[in-house]
Amino acid sequence: MVEISEREEDLPDLEIAKLLKIAVEHPEIISLGPGEPDFPAAKEIIEHTKKIAHKVSHYSPPGGRKEFKQAIIKKLKKENNINADENQIVATCGSQEALLLSAACCLDVSEQILLPNPGFMAFLPTFELFNANPRFIKLNEETGYSINPDDIKKKIDKKKTKVLLINSPSNPTGNVLSKKILEEIADISIENNLTIFSDEAYEKIIYDDTKHISIGSLNGMNQHVATFHSFSKTAAMCGYRLGYVAAPHKLAEAVKNTHIYSTICAPTISQMLGTKALKMGNKYVKKMVNEYDRRRRMMIPRLNQMGISTPMPKGAFYGFGNVTAFEKNSKKFCVKMIKKAKVAAVPGIDFGPAGEGHVRFSFATDYKLIEKALDRMEAFLHKYK
Ligand SMILES: Cc1ncc(COP(=O)(O)O)c(C=O)c1O
Repeated sequence: MVEISEREEDLPDLEIAKLLKIAVEHPEIISLGPGEPDFPAAKEIIEHTKKIAHKVSHYSPPGGRKEFKQAIIKKLKKENNINADENQIVATCGSQEALLLSAACCLDVSEQILLPNPGFMAFLPTFELFNANPRFIKLNEETGYSINPDDIKKKIDKKKTKVLLINSPSNPTGNVLSKKILEEIADISIENNLTIFSDEAYEKIIYDDTKHISIGSLNGMNQHVATFHSFSKTAAMCGYRLGYVAAPHKLAEAVKNTHIYSTICAPTISQMLGTKALKMGNKYVKKMVNEYDRRRRMMIPRLNQMGISTPMPKGAFYGFGNVTAFEKNSKKFCVKMIKKAKVAAVPGIDFGPAGEGHVRFSFATDYKLIEKALDRMEAFLHKYK
């Protein structure tokens, strides 16, 4: 009989998978669960996919295709103020693979990585897979889930802490870290020789006059930061599985070598389409962001009116609401909501212990459906028992 490793057995049993499965099986349920754009990729990308289909049957170099890396270098300089050369970029199967490979390259057994909590559900298991030792930095609702640099300092063990992960704009909280906070984090990183993993998957999904700043662009950080970018959210290309990491030479070289033992290379077709997407600029993402913004402005005030206290997200496409006025246990709340209101959302506990008592409501769903879901929730909460 096959025996499964303890490592795999210990992976968290996420509620999101179960709830979203129920939502798919029951079309009457409205899902505010999606973690991906409800938009398709731009029509130019879809057209181009057909055009290049006959040219894509070979592997690419493990670090990525030359013209893709050149397009990335230009984009990083122009949009992120990061200077990198070709040897600092590795194209990967989504940014998630870049994170996994970087974890393999930076963390030995039982070394520490500091993670914001609540945080994206893949962070913790990614590092546990390598028997690293993740430690949480609690983010607080009162500060809109920003990170307190003093809390980072308190958690650092000079011998064991190797990496600090940040994620701005954040999934699930929608927080965007300010330049001041990033500068303080940069100082901490230099003082303590920490590598920063900066997950910027939602970099272009930002609202109002909020600015996205890459910590890798700050003075002195070029030897300290691995920046993870994705085409999933900003180009609505989740299924193409394309992302990349920009890192100091030594780390990029290690990631590239490790890539040979995971997936060898990012799909050739996706890299060609990624090059096209980068050359197309930001028109399509702006269109999507305008629509997310319209939904955000409608959804967040309504959640607050219902008694679900939800800070206005500055980025990404999620409201992270406090449901403790109704229920302390977020899973219980979501199970009741799916049964009685026929609305699915993701229990905060899936984002770690500091997410308990909260629920993530995605607005990557049609405006009218969100309105209908909110109407149902209002009726449901009115007689919540
Ligand atoms: C914060 C964050 N990072 C990374 C990812 C994974 O992105 P990719 O599709 O590029 O692997 C996600 C997906 O939801 C995410 O929310």
